[in-house]
Amino acid sequence: MDLKIDRTKSGISKEEIGIYSKEIEKAMDRLWSGKEPMTGWVKLPMQTDSEELERILNAAIVIQEQCRELIVIGIGGSYLGTRAAVNALVGFDEVYDTGIPSDRYPSIKFAGNTMSAVYLQKLQEDIRTKEVCLCVISKSGTTIEPSIAFAVLKEAMIKKYGREEASKRIYAVTDAKKGVLREEAEREGYVSFAVPDDIGGRYSVLTPVGLLPMAAAGIDIKAMLAGAEAMATSPAWDFDAADYAAVRYALLQAGKSVEIFEYYEPQLEFFSEWLKQLFGESEGKDGKGLYPDSLRFSSDLHSMGQFLQEGRQIFFETVLNIEKPSRNIILPASAGELLGGKSLNQINRAAMEGVISAHSAAGIPIIKIDIPELNAFYFGQMLYFFETTCAVTSYLMGVNPFDQPGVEQYKAEMRKKLNELE
Ligand code: PA5
Repeated sequence: MDLKIDRTKSGISKEEIGIYSKEIEKAMDRLWSGKEPMTGWVKLPMQTDSEELERILNAAIVIQEQCRELIVIGIGGSYLGTRAAVNALVGFDEVYDTGIPSDRYPSIKFAGNTMSAVYLQKLQEDIRTKEVCLCVISKSGTTIEPSIAFAVLKEAMIKKYGREEASKRIYAVTDAKKGVLREEAEREGYVSFAVPDDIGGRYSVLTPVGLLPMAAAGIDIKAMLAGAEAMATSPAWDFDAADYAAVRYALLQAGKSVEIFEYYEPQLEFFSEWLKQLFGESEGKDGKGLYPDSLRFSSDLHSMGQFLQEGRQIFFETVLNIEKPSRNIILPASAGELLGGKSLNQINRAAMEGVISAHSAAGIPIIKIDIPELNAFYFGQMLYFFETTCAVTSYLMGVNPFDQPGVEQYKAEMRKKLNELE
């Protein structure tokens, strides 16, 4: 069974999707031709270098032996994929409930995605009190937020372990040849990995950027790559991702400007963050794009649910439905006549179906993505599915899915401001 898209409530018919079939065919050709810049991720699941994969797995084993906490430093595309996977497959809110034993693998903390001193100080404290390794990830090697976190945490590591031992506990993922992080990795002898030249940040989760920290966390990265490959090699033209792209584009043409990703399992919180980055940074340019947002249900049904049901209809909804959650609980009889004896998964499903009926009756277009289970294999499918959808819709919109001039502008302006500081 594969990931499936259910567009029966999207308001977009098969005939309407057909209108875009030629454009989609062209978009797929561009992706698969191997000639388009920054499309290295398209064939990546089939072409992962087995020696590189073994190096990653071996480094992960060493990390597991060295430490109880791995601090992963990075931002944007050098961060969110790993955080999404750890949140979905290892555990969330410190609850290890997905079969990965917490005593065998280091817990994963993230740094370099905020400039909060309060947050970073807690991690300095972790270094003082626990066995820690750092994994610093930056393709450019110059992004301010991870550079700050790395400088501060590296000092704490050197203070605790001494320079030589600290260097053995620092792992770097960066450009193969250039940049300050590459130079430092070579100079200090960190174990390091390269981000391929033809893969940009937000499409890089299945490169060492995501694979190294995920493997260290105990995630089965071979299964994840197999899932991505299974998705990539399903028959290209009736590929669900292309259908989804066509529906999204048709809804944009019909006047919808916001896509809301909705999930009923908190394990998908950071996957939704990853989606927001993927779509927002890829599509939002030249005055175009769908604005991506996410809501966690049922909590947000008690707040934003009001807007969805009766507010200004500028949006459509994309429901991320996990068909078989990893756990279930039967409610005791004391829960009352309505709830007692029913399972939480039944109740969660009833909530989802109720919301879909109510919103659909209000005329809101709804797309449902059915994810069979949340495991490494299907997670790989999810990554590849949404990356493909995003690239195809971007081409339909007439924007380049692989650049981010707006983000670069922020980075440059911030540097200017920093230069002005006393
Ligand atoms: O998708 C992107 O390109 C960005 O989100 C980058 O990943 C992010 O800005 C971090 O860049 P770097 O890996 O160079 O530190």
